[in-house]
Amino acid sequence: MHKIALLGTGLIGRFYTQSLLSYRGKDEIKVVVSQRQEEAERFAREFGISRPMTDIAAAVRDPEIDTVIIGLPNYLHKQAALLAAEAGKAVLCTKPLSVNAEDALVMLEAVEKAGVFNGYLEDLVYTPKTLKAIASARAGALGKVLWARSRETHGGPHSDWFWNKKLSGGGAIVDMGCHCIEIARAFIGKGVRPMDVTCWADTQVHPIDAEDHAIGLVRYENTAIGQFEVSWTFRGGMDLRDEVAGTEGTVWLNHWMRTGFEMFTSVGQGGYVAEKAEGDTGWLFPVGDEIGSLGYVEMFMDMFNAMDAGRQPMETFYDGYVVNAIMDACYRAAESKRWEPVDLKVWRGGESAQVATGMKDFDDQHFLIKEEVMPNGATKFILKDKNTGEISQVIRE
Ligand SMILES: NC(=O)c1ccc[n+]([C@@H]2O[C@H](COP(=O)([O-])OP(=O)(O)OC[C@H]3O[C@@H](n4cnc5c(N)ncnc54)[C@H](O)[C@@H]3O)[C@@H](O)[C@H]2O)c1
Repeated sequence: MHKIALLGTGLIGRFYTQSLLSYRGKDEIKVVVSQRQEEAERFAREFGISRPMTDIAAAVRDPEIDTVIIGLPNYLHKQAALLAAEAGKAVLCTKPLSVNAEDALVMLEAVEKAGVFNGYLEDLVYTPKTLKAIASARAGALGKVLWARSRETHGGPHSDWFWNKKLSGGGAIVDMGCHCIEIARAFIGKGVRPMDVTCWADTQVHPIDAEDHAIGLVRYENTAIGQFEVSWTFRGGMDLRDEVAGTEGTVWLNHWMRTGFEMFTSVGQGGYVAEKAEGDTGWLFPVGDEIGSLGYVEMFMDMFNAMDAGRQPMETFYDGYVVNAIMDACYRAAESKRWEPVDLKVWRGGESAQVATGMKDFDDQHFLIKEEVMPNGATKFILKDKNTGEISQVIRE
């Protein structure tokens, strides 16, 4: 059983608390920290937590606490993680790990030097659907993954600090691109090095300094491509979708809207429907189990089970650092309008085999490029001559 200090009692603090209390059940949140004492006290009362406070350092250093969970605005992650490392506490940090790769690297080095357990709370690679899809990809069901596309779009975040670039580190890329980039890494293979990126980012709607919409491509060493699409300008709720295409298969995942629970009401229900839902009348897409669908339950299972077993979790500060480095390159590319290299000061390597060419023999003399049954019932075979390179076709009625 772990004794936890939860830093931050906002949207994510609430989801984390619900996940920790409802599922693994063994661990206890002893201390909660908010910016204002009243907020901490209200939250503590609601969830039966004994010590509400506003002092981050005091919470981290509390002798009863062995695990620190960081659910604070982005600009506070580094400070909190360094305090946890200094106090020798296990530390789990929400996404993005930090506001940029430089700070993320400082955090990574601090926890590793201190030898404390570290976990990167990237929930969207832990949704039950995603875990199953990743397992299928690892088992070879998709062949070689060539293209992993991930989208998170909604009408914009719910607190002031997100919209202030000095506090958040950026706009939609830092806020949501981090999810999409890590989802793509999980399918393409975390040992495959991200090489360079190109990115369009703009401020289309809101009066802010950061981007409220961005689309990016991350090119991996094995020629696979990660594609992210993020927006704070999207209307209609929260669109969370992934598409993964490999040489032998495809996966499409829809996590939030149109997942099988659709409801119409002309009068509404007066309140919350699902995260980032825009209204409560008309056609609605409620979500039965929000914390499950977003991956928080499986994520904390992995984190605390890993801690108990003395192993690393699926997502560590190192993963958070790699994601921050990719996002930094995206910002450079959006400025320069060119492909920009991903600057990874620490690369822990891994597989980097080239994409399988997919060459299949048709006969001794030809490779088979494509086979298709046509509307008239004939089968067409598109071939390449192994010696001359000539492309031809054979039709079998
Ligand atoms: N899917 C996800 O993993 C996910 C979803 C939402 C948010 N997040 C991340 O969680 C973090 C917090 O986001 P949120 O949506 O909960 O924000 P929020 O604005 O809802 O809550 C922020 C919390 O931090 C507290 N806080 C702010 N400044 C503080 C200070 N100086 N000292 C002590 N407490 C302070 C506030 O009182 C509040 O409880 C961000 O890094 C965000 O990116 C992750």
